[in-house]
Formats: sequence, C-alpha cells, structure tokens
Amino acid sequence: MSIPKAELHLHIEGTLEPELAFALAARNGVALPYADTDELREAYRFSDLQSFLNLYYGLMAVLRTEDDFADLTDAYLARAAAQGVRHAEIFFDPQAHISRGVGIGTVVAGLGRALDRSEAVHGVSTQLIMCFLRDESAESAMETLEAAKPHLGRIVGVGLDSAEVGHPPAKFREVYEAAAALGLRRVAHAGEEGPPAYITEALDVLGAERIDHGLRCLEDPELVARLVRDRVPLTLCPLSNVRLRAVDVLAEHPLPAMLDAGLLCTVNSDDPAYFGGYAEDNFRAVRAALGLSPERLRELARNSFLAAFLEHDEERRARYVAEVDAYEFP
Ligand code: ADE
Ligand code: ZN
Repeated sequence: MSIPKAELHLHIEGTLEPELAFALAARNGVALPYADTDELREAYRFSDLQSFLNLYYGLMAVLRTEDDFADLTDAYLARAAAQGVRHAEIFFDPQAHISRGVGIGTVVAGLGRALDRSEAVHGVSTQLIMCFLRDESAESAMETLEAAKPHLGRIVGVGLDSAEVGHPPAKFREVYEAAAALGLRRVAHAGEEGPPAYITEALDVLGAERIDHGLRCLEDPELVARLVRDRVPLTLCPLSNVRLRAVDVLAEHPLPAMLDAGLLCTVNSDDPAYFGGYAEDNFRAVRAALGLSPERLRELARNSFLAAFLEHDEERRARYVAEVDAYEFP
C-alpha cells in the first residue's frame, strides 16, 4: 500500500497512454502518424519542454467526444487511486481543444462525468483547474475564461502552462484579475525552464497561490526566503524534470536541498503517460535516487494535503493528514 497523497500538478491530457490513444483514434477515425504503440513510445525522447509539447498537442487529436474525456479521466483516476492518491486537482487545457473544434462544454462534461463518480468508484476526491496556454495571446486567455463561465460551478481555479521562456506571467495580469473577481483560485507554472523572476512575477502580478514546478527558485536566495516565509507550495515533478532535461539525472534533483531550505514541496507526476510514472512512481524514484528517509516522504505527502484547495472542507483535509501520519512504511 502506497502512502496517501494529493496530486496537485497533473495535466489530464498528459495521462493519455499510447494504448488509449490508439483505441480513441480507431473509435474516432483519426489517423495517427505512428504504426503502433511501440513506435509512439519511441517518440518519447524529449530534449526540452517544447519537444514534449509538440507531441502532447499532436496526440490530443484523438480526444473528440465527451466519452473520450470521460474515459481518459476514469483511466487516470484508477491508476492514481492504485498509487495512493486520495485527492487530485486536475489541470486541463481548454484552448488546445477549442482550437480543434472541440468546445469547452464537451470537455468539461466528459471530465465532469468521471469526476462525479470518482469518490464512489475510486475513493479519490477531485477538483478541476483550467490552464491558459501562455504561448497564446492574453486575448485568447480572456476569451477562454469567458467561454468557461457557464461551467465555473465545476472549476475551482486557473493555471498557466505551455512554453514558458519568452512568455512571462505579467502577460496574463488582466485575465488573472478577472479570474480572481470570479472567485477562482490561482496557480501558475513558473521556474520550470524560465528564470526565477517569473516565479516572483507569478506571485506579485498574478497572485499565484501555488507555484507549479518552481525548480529554479534556488537561483534566487531572496525568493527562497520569501517562499519559505509565506509557505508558498511548490508542486515539483521529478520524473518530468529528468525527461524534459531540466535536471540531468534524478540523483542531481534539488528536492533534498529544497526541503532542507524549508520550502513547502510536493511531488507530482505532471504528464505521467509521457514521463514514465504516476504519483507513487515519482515518490519511489526520489526515494531511491535521492535517499529520502521515510519521514521526508511523509513530509511530502503531508504537504500535498496542506497545499490542496480544501478550504471548503477542512474536516476532509484533517482526515487525509491523519491518514498520512498513521501510515506505516513497509
Ligand atoms: N503542459 C503539460 N505539461 C506541461 C509542463 N510540464 N510544463 C508546461 N506546460 C505543460
Ligand atoms: Zn505541468
């Protein structure tokens, strides 16, 4: 049994396993430029974030109907549950679907159908976070927020993802202000490939409550001190960082130094179908490569619930934290 944990950095489109991609391609009559799942997996050799994003957006062509999004989400939740995930805050990229003629209503209805039965079927509580693509315009982000308005009952917050360098957070000041006015929570990818200044900007300009990745904060001691003081959660994704070459090898991942610095770190899987592992796979990998003690792993699991958007149900949070504290490592 895996330690109970929350997953706070998970792109639902990044859970599209090759087998499901081919099944959906057949169901929807979509031709894929790969002969089979082996050939597709062969393409998962990324040199950086952009090389991954090209494949990630391309493979989304198979996601067309409400059923597709429901099946994708159900498959993720089953895998997550088997890896100890008790609560998941799931990202999705509406613009990547709208641009292909798949409306946000179809996407949210499909995701929502799987989320509605998640607690009963998988024992996983869930929330949905819509991300803006930062390499698209601020106007497009604002239009997307507008299109999401009929669905805000299902969406807890907004995020910012896609190609980071050259697309600083400040570009999205107005849309984040509009999101805040609608009562939405705010997170943003920052410091994955981009500089520490993007993390500072995400906090100051966007009002980000959590930083997704935040890896490069270590280059700015004043920023680290601020993140520690203000208890700003960082949603780290160790296997992703290796696959996208943000770090050379897992043994050199700065997670231990970040924990030692007092940062509120969490461990997540990002795009598990592409990066070689789900939530517990990431926990196991950092344990093995970085020699983290069981108490450090417990701290990471506890942090994940402390950082979750569970303010509407503090009893649930307390229950999850108690499960973490009671967990006995094998
Ligand atoms: N979209 C999906 N995964 C991402 C990542 N790791 N960084 C930025 N955008 C993403
Ligand atoms: Zn991500």
